[in-house]
Amino acid sequence: MGRYAQIIGWGKSVPNHVLTNEDLARIVNTSDEWIRTHTGIRQRYIATDPRETTATLAIKAAQEALRVADVPASRLDMIIVATASPEHIFPSTASLVQDAIGATRAGAFDLSAACSGFVYALSVARGLIVSGSAEYVLVIGSETLSRLVDWSDRSTCVLFGDGAGAVLLAASEVPGGILSTVLGSDGSGGNLLIVPAGGSRMPACLETVASGMHYLKMNGREVFRFATRVMARAAQEVAEQAGLTMDEVDLLIPHQANRRIIESAMKQLKLDESRVFINIDRYGNTSAASIPIALCEAIEEGRIKQNDHLILVGFGGGLTWGAAAVQWSVPLPLPETPWWRAAQRSGSFHMAQMRSLGRRALRRLQGITVRSEEGNGRQPQPILEESLQKLRAHLWKVKTSKEEATSSEEKTT
Ligand code: UT7
Repeated sequence: MGRYAQIIGWGKSVPNHVLTNEDLARIVNTSDEWIRTHTGIRQRYIATDPRETTATLAIKAAQEALRVADVPASRLDMIIVATASPEHIFPSTASLVQDAIGATRAGAFDLSAACSGFVYALSVARGLIVSGSAEYVLVIGSETLSRLVDWSDRSTCVLFGDGAGAVLLAASEVPGGILSTVLGSDGSGGNLLIVPAGGSRMPACLETVASGMHYLKMNGREVFRFATRVMARAAQEVAEQAGLTMDEVDLLIPHQANRRIIESAMKQLKLDESRVFINIDRYGNTSAASIPIALCEAIEEGRIKQNDHLILVGFGGGLTWGAAAVQWSVPLPLPETPWWRAAQRSGSFHMAQMRSLGRRALRRLQGITVRSEEGNGRQPQPILEESLQKLRAHLWKVKTSKEEATSSEEKTT
């Protein structure tokens, strides 16, 4: 019996704040006309609230994907977050997502392949599932590139937007799902799209900040030339590997970096706009999040139906490129989720938050207890011991009620 990696859940999240081209024209020397004609962008979502980050956007998209699939987070085996704007160098953004959604059994790691990251992550997830190492893998593309952009550089600040998209992949015996993937890299072009400082090569210091080396730098023209070369080629290659002709492709979902790049790929692949999904006008370039956000919108707009063949194709910093051929298996539109099921699911996310808070508090108290045991050879203070006992009892209650909820969910499914 074959083993396939099917997409069974999806979700997206964007910040509330919309930044239009007119808004940008008030910040830098640009115009709505220039941005629209050179890129196709009209507006983008920007995380202006400092509490909104790559992780919080990823968490919202992940929760939505789990809701759609109606799968508890406790069933996940792996979480992969593709991002070029991680919360920190470490810990990984994926580990923060794992904790926040209560994926207690899952491994978690970030994947760095810039705008191609989501397709790279899909490829890794498919490998984990097809090899039998995982049953459920959550793949997220999440970015807040607005935090790495130099808002005085008109050649880059008009391009990028923030957001996240997620898909849940599940092992299945039903043929289809991710049929093939193609990944590539040409590191000789690494300098064409780069954040020079903040890593180990050029650690952040006063000089790097003063010279703006912590900002994203791009040679737009060169990246444009590279993109128009690789996009169509990768799409063609992945279709061939899946045994498809371009005529059999129902929808191409390209990375949304520039409308002109997408149009060039359409021309080379001889696809008209009815078979290509474009939403760059509303989101700008959301890097690793652009393909999963576009996939979610294509579903919402009724552009995908059961058994359709999709090609997802991206390119970006590295330089990297990646494409995936997908046979869509979930019947659409989805039936309405009963209210009690939705409530059960959000209850489990609240429980995950409480569990996380409890674990943090317990760790702090344990630290204090150990320190007071070590210091002066004194015994732990009884008040701390008492608090620890209470916390342990609380965590035990959360754990058992969560297990009960999961087992009752498993019984009902
Ligand atoms: O996600 C993957 C990474 N990113 C990409 O895929 C981006 C790929 N590159 C591009 O999309 C395009 O190269 C850009 C949109 C970045 C630039 O478009 P372009 O048509 O290649 O413009 P250009 O760089 O050749 O610049 C043309 C002119 C320049 O002026 P001069 O030197 O001809 O006087 C720029 O200074 O446009 C000027 N310019 C602008 N003018 C108004 C550059 N940015 C702006 C701006 N507003 N925002």
